[in-house]
Amino acid sequence: MQPALTRVLVLGASGLLGQYVAREALDRGYEVWGSYFSTPLPKNGLQPIRVDLGKPATIEEAFDRAEPDWTVLCAARTGVDDCEEVPQKAVLVNAQGPAHVARLCKDRDVRLVHVSTDYVFDGQDGPYDEKAGPNPLNHYGASKREGEDRVLAILPGALVVRLCAVYGWNRLRGKANSVTWILSLLRSAREVPLFADQRVSPSYAYEAATAILDLAPYLTSGYFHLATPDCVTRLELGKAIAEVFALPLELLRPTTMAAAQLLAPRPLHACLTSTRRDIRLKAPPRPLREALAHMRDAE
Ligand SMILES: NC(=O)c1ccc[n+]([C@@H]2O[C@H](COP(=O)([O-])OP(=O)(O)OC[C@H]3O[C@@H](n4cnc5c(N)ncnc54)[C@H](OP(=O)(O)O)[C@@H]3O)[C@@H](O)[C@H]2O)c1
Repeated sequence: MQPALTRVLVLGASGLLGQYVAREALDRGYEVWGSYFSTPLPKNGLQPIRVDLGKPATIEEAFDRAEPDWTVLCAARTGVDDCEEVPQKAVLVNAQGPAHVARLCKDRDVRLVHVSTDYVFDGQDGPYDEKAGPNPLNHYGASKREGEDRVLAILPGALVVRLCAVYGWNRLRGKANSVTWILSLLRSAREVPLFADQRVSPSYAYEAATAILDLAPYLTSGYFHLATPDCVTRLELGKAIAEVFALPLELLRPTTMAAAQLLAPRPLHACLTSTRRDIRLKAPPRPLREALAHMRDAE
């Protein structure tokens, strides 16, 4: 018999994924505390609280006030080039902060779902399942990898959910993601340069949130990969978006990652797949075009 969970603390509820986790939790009747960092969150049913993962006292205050049964750690420093520029801040927020969250969860008997990334892999031989060995190429990936390690060392019962190229409508922040960026260029009739050599298996934020909520009541631990079964190049992603949203394909321009001269190196083929037979989701991630159609209909 699983203990009933009633109170959840969503760290990073102002982010793309976190807003869907918080909304889904509210819809399922949980009492929800949601953290923000840079700009206050509207209440909309949840209890907003400011947390800086770089400042342990603010994390503790959130735990004191929320008294959660479980916590979902979506907050992170997610700018890949920004992490390359200031790696010490990436470590502070993406590794030391999660370690502190895990310690609080351990001390207070709180269940933890920690969200991580495909960027822990080097992309040489994807797709990667949960047994694959990480080898991050950049400081963002390295800081997230250190966060995973530290969380599981402190709290082996934590569930580390790895996602890839998270997308969906961001109802709280103006920040674009891999799909909304392509959509906004296509809708304004501008050319979209897209890598024909980088493969991703995009995670739909709404679906990932629903899966996390489904898993929360069970004592599931270790790594779990959550992404669409389709492993596509960025160019193929653009084609799928143009088709599903009925936008012009001619505006998609193939390019390569090398030509973009990005500050931080990125994995070329870091698609995710899952071989965890013990985890049975009520609704496994849909094929890419189906998920995009859901997003289109939810606009
Ligand atoms: N984006 C992707 O393509 C992708 C791919 C794979 C995995 N992931 C992982 O998925 C998770 C969610 O990503 P996302 O795309 O939803 O991120 P996001 O939209 O960039 O949101 C980041 C969240 O973290 C908060 N935050 C930033 N710095 C913070 C700090 N110092 N202390 C506390 N909170 C801080 C932000 O708050 P404010 O908005 O208030 O500043 C926001 O709530 C992350 O763990 C990320 O590593 C993302």
